[in-house]
Formats: sequence, C-alpha cells, structure tokens
Amino acid sequence: MSTNQLLKPITIEEGNNLCVGGCDMVDLANKYGTPLYVIDEQTIRSVCKEYKKAFSKYEKVKMMYASKALCTSAISKILASENFGFDVVSGGEIYTVYKAGIDMSTVLFNGNNKTPDEIELAIKYGVGRFSIDNYHEVELISELSKKYGKTVDALLRITPGIECHTHKYIQTGQLDSKFGFDLSQIDSIIEHILTVDKTINIRGLHAHIGSQIFEPQCYADEVEVLVKEIARIDNKYNIKLDEINIGGGLGVKYVSSDNPPSIEIISDSIIDSLNKNIEKYGIEKPTLYLEPGRSIISTAGVTLYTVGSSKQVPGMTKYVSVDGGMADNPRPSMYEAEYYAEVANKKNDSTKEKITIAGKFCESGDILIKDIELPKLEAGDIICVYNTGAYNYSMASNYNRALKPAMVLVNNSQSDMIIYRETLEDLVSRDNIPGRLL
Ligand code: LLP
Repeated sequence: MSTNQLLKPITIEEGNNLCVGGCDMVDLANKYGTPLYVIDEQTIRSVCKEYKKAFSKYEKVKMMYASKALCTSAISKILASENFGFDVVSGGEIYTVYKAGIDMSTVLFNGNNKTPDEIELAIKYGVGRFSIDNYHEVELISELSKKYGKTVDALLRITPGIECHTHKYIQTGQLDSKFGFDLSQIDSIIEHILTVDKTINIRGLHAHIGSQIFEPQCYADEVEVLVKEIARIDNKYNIKLDEINIGGGLGVKYVSSDNPPSIEIISDSIIDSLNKNIEKYGIEKPTLYLEPGRSIISTAGVTLYTVGSSKQVPGMTKYVSVDGGMADNPRPSMYEAEYYAEVANKKNDSTKEKITIAGKFCESGDILIKDIELPKLEAGDIICVYNTGAYNYSMASNYNRALKPAMVLVNNSQSDMIIYRETLEDLVSRDNIPGRLL
C-alpha cells in the first residue's frame, strides 16, 4: 500500500502502549510534555522513495517539497538528503531553508504577493526559480536582479481552469482564483517580460490545481493544458519552454472512509498524459517538476494530547477535553477536516464509548474530533491524533496566548527535539509597553 493510503505512520506498533519510530508514545508525552507533535522519519523517507520510484518512469523529473506543509530546519535537511528541492512561499520559508544549509538553486519561490523584501532575499540567496504570478512582481524582480547583477530563471504561474472536488478554500486551479495568470493573459505577460529587459528567463510553466485531490484525471487534464500552452508559445514566440511544474495536491487518508489513489496511480496518470500530449502537440520532452507537501509529511506526523476535563450533556454529547486544540491544529475548525485518534496508553482496553474530543480554546467550534469511539477516558490519558504532520504546526497560532507545542523526530527508538516548546517568556518577549503606560 502507498504511504498516503495509510491512516498511521509506517512504524506504528501496537503493544500495551502505542509506539512510533520505536518510541513509546506515553514515554514521549512524559519526557517532552503535551501537546506534542511527533514526526516519524522513516515514514517521510519511505514516501520520498515511493515518489522517486513511481516517477522514475519518466526520464526528466525533479521532486520538490512544498515547505508550507511543514517547514522546519530539520525537516528541510531530511528532504534535501532525499534529493528533493523546495517550493517556498515566504521570506520565512526562504530563510529557514537557507539557514538549514540547503542548496538554494533547488528552491522555487512561489506566491501571489511576494513583497520587495522577500524578492530581495530570494535574489540575494540565489533561489533557483521564481514562479511569476503577476505583473507587479515582474517590475520588482527586474529592478532587484539588476541591483545584484543577476538574472533570474522563472516559470509562469498559470490557472489551468481545472476544478477538483476538494474543499473550496484549498482549490487553486479554477479560473476565478487569486493565483497566477489565466490562459487568456499568458501572451501579454510573455510580451511584457520580453520588453522589460533581459533579467528574467522564462523556463517553463507552473500550475497547482488544489490540495487533498483524489482524482488522477485532474492531473492528466492539467498536464494537457500545460503541454498545449508550451506548444502554442513555441509556435507564436519561438520560445522553447522546457520545464513544467504541476504543483502538489495528492490526497491522504485522514479517516477510514478516505480513499486516496496511490502515488503510482497518480504518477501513471501524469506520465501517460505527458507522453501522449508531448506527441500530440509535438514538443521536446520537458523536465517535469512536482511539489507535493501534504502527501510527504502528513502521515509521518501524530499529535499527543493529555486528557483533562470531561462533560456529559445529558442525553447528548460527551465532551472530553484535551490540552491543545485549534491553536495547534486549526484544520477541523477551518475546513471541517476530520481526524482519527487512538488512546496511546489504552491499546488493550476493550471498553468503548462514543465521545467528542474538544480542544481547550475559548470557542465552541474548537472541536478536534466529533463522535469517535474510544476506550473510556480518564484525566491523564494520552490521546494520539493521526495524520497531523501537514498544515498543523505550519498553521499553528498563539490563540488564547497558547504556547506552540514542541516537535520531536523519532527514528530507530531515538527521539530528538526539532522544535523547542514555546515558553511564557517567549510569548512576552516580543511585547513592548510604551513609556507613557509605565
Ligand atoms: N504547490 C503550490 C503552488 C501550492 O499552493 C500548494 C499548496 C502545494 C504545492 C502543496 O500542496 P499539497 O501537496 O500539500 O496539497 N492549509 C490547507 C492546504 C493549503 C494548500 C495550499 N497550497 C490545509 O490544511 O488543507
């Protein structure tokens, strides 16, 4: 089975206590405290290898990792050691990979409103590609690349007009989108870039059709749109674009009813469409770039929480509250995302009770999992929520002045802190009281 089709990390062991990466989760909770993000290194490496193998059927492939899913220094090191490049979307992500010692030529800078400071940082550190999203940034890139005496290799971000069935906030390929150029605008941006100056080399096209995608056909359609455009641009402008970046988006299994296709099914659909359309439109084989985020890191991550208070509403829901919630995982309240959980210290307990796992934050919408059957819970039990590697820490907040949790990396029975837990001092360290209030 493909890693993105699993509910749990590949190293999960079900003894009396749940173990991941050879580490007992109850011990991890005791040692590092909760809430705790735990990342299983073997699961990341296994999914990377799976992607590389599945796409090796096409000659020219570059795998990138969409850092927005989870961007930390240690995670960047792991991905780089698997020969992945990086899709980054902010000065913060650029700085993180740079400080982690990543080869910046493997980095692509993407985003619909890159600020002058971010563009300058990207040019200074020598990111390998810009994904050009709008006219405004063409002027900025051109001005700043002149300042540094550099030229910039770029892809044009286009919206291919493909709608995938996913949550509307994470669809991006449809025409009415804030990202990129629609097909009718491509010629004018090319002509604009050609007239601005020679600092921007257009190398290819870039698109991303959405996230948590389960339909291989969406990718096949996307590839056709991109190849057709490359052929059209060549005919009209005699510009040979030799890179296509089809973004990320492959879905994962959060709950047992989710049925994502395997990485191989997706790769076959993409490669078949690519080969077919290369022939149909008569272009040279371009280099194919992919930039998955969620499917690389989601399954590798779990979050541990400690159970605190409970409340039975007579005749209705039983709420069991944990010591985290929407500040460390905003996805259920933002996207109605569903998760699966188990009790790390009660693997062999056969009692069952239907409960709702509530977070500790001050709003009713802070519910992590609605109606899940778990062994009877008591204060102090450790709940393990699965598939929290992607878009949890990266979207975490300090809501209610919560402290952001620690993150540990587990592998071969070893656990290492890769993000330190925030402290109360960290929280107030950025505060300032103006003199007149003292
Ligand atoms: N490339 C581009 C240009 C993107 O915009 C994204 C995600 C990716 C790659 C990676 O997509 P993935 O393989 O992770 O699906 N916060 C939302 C997800 C937003 C995704 C935004 N773009 C969530 O928690 O579901």
